[in-house]
Amino acid sequence: MKKITKAVIPAAGLGTRMLPISRTVPKEILPIVDRPSMEYLIREAVGAGIKDILIITGRNKEAIENYFDYSIEYKDTLEKKNKEKELADMEEVCSLANIYFLRQKEAKGLGHAVLCAEKFVGEEPFAVLYGDDVMVADTPVTKQLCDVAEKYDKAVVGVCEVPYEDLKKYCSMKTEKQYDERTYLTTDMVEKPQTKEEMFSNLAILGRVVLTPDIFDILRHTAPGKGGELQLTDAMKELAKTKGVISYKYEGKRYDMGSKLGFLQANIETALKHPEIKDAFEAYLKNLYDELF
Ligand code: UTP
Repeated sequence: MKKITKAVIPAAGLGTRMLPISRTVPKEILPIVDRPSMEYLIREAVGAGIKDILIITGRNKEAIENYFDYSIEYKDTLEKKNKEKELADMEEVCSLANIYFLRQKEAKGLGHAVLCAEKFVGEEPFAVLYGDDVMVADTPVTKQLCDVAEKYDKAVVGVCEVPYEDLKKYCSMKTEKQYDERTYLTTDMVEKPQTKEEMFSNLAILGRVVLTPDIFDILRHTAPGKGGELQLTDAMKELAKTKGVISYKYEGKRYDMGSKLGFLQANIETALKHPEIKDAFEAYLKNLYDELF
């Protein structure tokens, strides 16, 4: 397989689980303490050696684009105030990668968002980072998946073990063969299985995949699935059945920034490690705990 040099970040969804804030602030730009979640995703892709990144956006998502743009007003002000650290930080963020933006004109599903990336991707394998999933890991999760894709010369889906009662929300993997403790060959999958009999395994796709360009032909003839949306999992299922895909149990912690609980967990855990506030925040949490429990 060719080296993976491109990533696509779908970020055009309406974020109904994060209403009402998502009507005006895209969930993909919600802060984790002081940095938007999208910056974590860009850094993760860059950490996998990827420099060309396409973000699929939609109406009311301009804040994402603005964040990665240079700001002359801030540059002048920070220079005048001798805030060198903040200035260097802004310059670094604005030059992390070549970031491209494309609008998905209607939120017709994750599969449709990925199909919008066809021209950008061309004939190469590419990584997909689901725009509302933030991963914290020693080795960037996208790098873990790219390494596996390149080794096995196949598309790879990042999976986690999910309790059976939660599998209803996710896509369950049929594993045919195990290569090592983290790596399986997958030949089928089922989206949002409702009964235990329908579930293949407790391994579910969560947040990251590496796809081969043949996914675009499949997406083009895939019928709208659950919710009337073009589901990426329906297309990946066909890829799994025809060519096989690898399920890789990645190492890392996932925060679902598209949910209220995930957003809070990401903030609290990051605040406890943040150099500027960790001591004060820890003292605050301890006091609060004593007061409440
Ligand atoms: P989700 O299913 O979590 O996004 O898709 P959603 O539809 O916005 O969520 P809810 O259920 O209404 O809260 C995962 C990622 O795919 C993007 C989303 O922006 C999110 O980052 N997405 C989803 C698109 O880019 N386009 C779509 O049509 C749907």
